[in-house]
Amino acid sequence: MTKILVTRRTFPEAAVALRASGAEVVIWEDADAPSQADLVKAIADVDGLYAHITNQVNAEVMDAAPNLKVIAEFGVGYDNIEIAAANERGIAVCNTPGILSESTADEAFALLASMARRTHDLPAMVKRGEWGDFDPLGYLATDIHHKTLGIVGMGNIGAEMAKRAAGFNMNVLYFNRNKRDEEFGATYVDSLEEILERSDYISLHNPLTPETTNMMSTDQFKLMKKSAILINTTRGPVVDQDALYEALKSGEIAGAALDVTVPEPIPADHPLLTLDNCLIMPHVASATGDTRMKMAMMSVENVLAAVAGDWPPYCVNQTEIAGNARIKS
Ligand code: DGY
Repeated sequence: MTKILVTRRTFPEAAVALRASGAEVVIWEDADAPSQADLVKAIADVDGLYAHITNQVNAEVMDAAPNLKVIAEFGVGYDNIEIAAANERGIAVCNTPGILSESTADEAFALLASMARRTHDLPAMVKRGEWGDFDPLGYLATDIHHKTLGIVGMGNIGAEMAKRAAGFNMNVLYFNRNKRDEEFGATYVDSLEEILERSDYISLHNPLTPETTNMMSTDQFKLMKKSAILINTTRGPVVDQDALYEALKSGEIAGAALDVTVPEPIPADHPLLTLDNCLIMPHVASATGDTRMKMAMMSVENVLAAVAGDWPPYCVNQTEIAGNARIKS
């Protein structure tokens, strides 16, 4: 019997759809994700893995699952999957592109607006009873309109961010591996250095790769304006957090809002959490009920197609495994 393992709890609709296929479906219902050892144990006779960012799906995990045909990641980023190992073994890797772009950009823009207009720190001051007399020079914020937003990584999410910024009369610059033809109302700049120097807000939307690990570190913060604010909704390791702490503390940059950190969850005693100019959210950019439901159903579609022997609709390594795909053997 075909077996599918889901590594975190999911929507009832997704569970019903998986079970309707006739497969045996095991859903990891614990409050915490499986440990790597638990995953290795649980995956032994599994054909389809419905995976989440909470687990590293590496060669060891894959080797524990000789029948594994597909890894369907719940999310657009799949840096937690060792793609070279999946390619070697002919395992299809899938993700959930497109459907979460708008929700993610909504959150990235909300973080930008929050840092700019200080909704991240002033309400706490009001709650502490520290709202003094009206002060023409007090509680000053930063404008959003007519400021420059630098988008690093112009994929679907970056493009949605550009659209939101246009609605706020921002000037939008973008830096991307390739210049894109589409019209985003954004101007291409051909170096990270230039976009860092010119922007009032920098929003990161590039994937995590070996090249982008610690892409934002001491030298990059030095290039940014002292008034600039960094928004990170991609992956924590893209930002060197020790360098960020120093930059925020010394005033090298004005603020940062992070949806993603290293590690996740960030420990409550982490130095970044002591700073008023740093806002940290618990990796929730795609976390609206509607979007998470769409992601779940897309993951279901991917895993069910593959265990039935078809190419999953959102396969990221179809070309690489065309000659040795397990779903075709
Ligand atoms: C994504 O889709 O990549 C989200 O960050 C969840 O992992």
